[in-house]
Amino acid sequence: MKNSVLVTGGAGFIGSHTAVELINAGFDVIIVDNFSNSDMAAVEGVRTITGADVPFEKADCNSREELEKIFKKYKFDSVIHFAASKAVGESVEKPLMYYRNNVGSFVNILELMNKHGVSNMVFSSSATVYGQPDVLPATEQTPRKPATSPYGNTKQICEDILRDSVAACEGMKGIALRYFNPIGAHPSALIGELPKGVPNNLVPFITQTAAGIRKELSVFGDDYNTPDGSCLRDYIDVVDLAKAHVVAVRRMIENKGKAKYEIFNIGTGVPVSVLELVNTFQKVNNVKVPYKIVGRRQGDVEAVWADTKLANTELGWKAERSLDETLAAAWSWEKRVRNIK
Ligand code: UD1
Repeated sequence: MKNSVLVTGGAGFIGSHTAVELINAGFDVIIVDNFSNSDMAAVEGVRTITGADVPFEKADCNSREELEKIFKKYKFDSVIHFAASKAVGESVEKPLMYYRNNVGSFVNILELMNKHGVSNMVFSSSATVYGQPDVLPATEQTPRKPATSPYGNTKQICEDILRDSVAACEGMKGIALRYFNPIGAHPSALIGELPKGVPNNLVPFITQTAAGIRKELSVFGDDYNTPDGSCLRDYIDVVDLAKAHVVAVRRMIENKGKAKYEIFNIGTGVPVSVLELVNTFQKVNNVKVPYKIVGRRQGDVEAVWADTKLANTELGWKAERSLDETLAAAWSWEKRVRNIK
């Protein structure tokens, strides 16, 4: 029998890429999304890439009733929970919306998993839980810092909720993947990152500027204590990241985990500065990205990148795609969406 995975937020950027990799690896997938930051085109993209008639259910994970219908309609043994809000600034303005969307919906899903005997949960966590680490690179043992936004706090809270509920429920397992900075797009250019409104994140802002939708990129600060003064991050290709989820689900199904609840950093282990990223994008794609240096963005950390040893050795997962390939894929996607030749 094929293993089935419920993918919440499966029309989103990381969710859609993960759905593709799961299907490629032989899993059945059910996609759930409420289209709050995505649309049906991503589901169609997943279907076209894989040739699979992937079931899709439009539902909001905040609604236990809507969700429970899905738990009754389909059989699955694992859930990957992507559905969440992720804009740091917005979370400061609308904290309750973030606690409801990110924490409330997670509790709903875990309760339904308990009730319906679904064992395995992969949770989308974030390097944001480290804040500015005292020592770099960040390992999974690096202490979490107090969150600086409600968004960041929801990631910490959900990690703890998963740890506690897995401990209390026999047969249940959980893996939190702490993503560094996911970027790029599927090589087919059929799915990619398409934020609604003005992008908060660096790479969609770059691709939209190259496409002429934004006048220029603002580089937030060149006076950090880094080699070129701009911030350092660990940019992970979304297809590589998607594959980490496949490995995580398998690990739980095959009982390979060292503990019922585990945490893994998912990054490349290589720090890249904002200016380096902009320059690499321009070079690889032979396109101009007008930019200006402006002041620091409130809440940004100076530098964070992953120690990936645990993911490499324990999970048997490693980032494979180069930054050049990733940035080329991001641009191909933006061009296809905007009809640029
Ligand atoms: C941000 C969130 C993080 C979240 C992640 C995914 C913060 C502090 N962190 O990570 O919690 O998990 O997004 O949504 O917001 N930059 C520019 N100009 C831009 C946009 C970004 O210079 O227009 C710079 C930023 O200062 C940063 C780097 O690019 O140094 C990456 O920014 P971004 O893509 O927003 O990711 P993070 O801030 O690392």
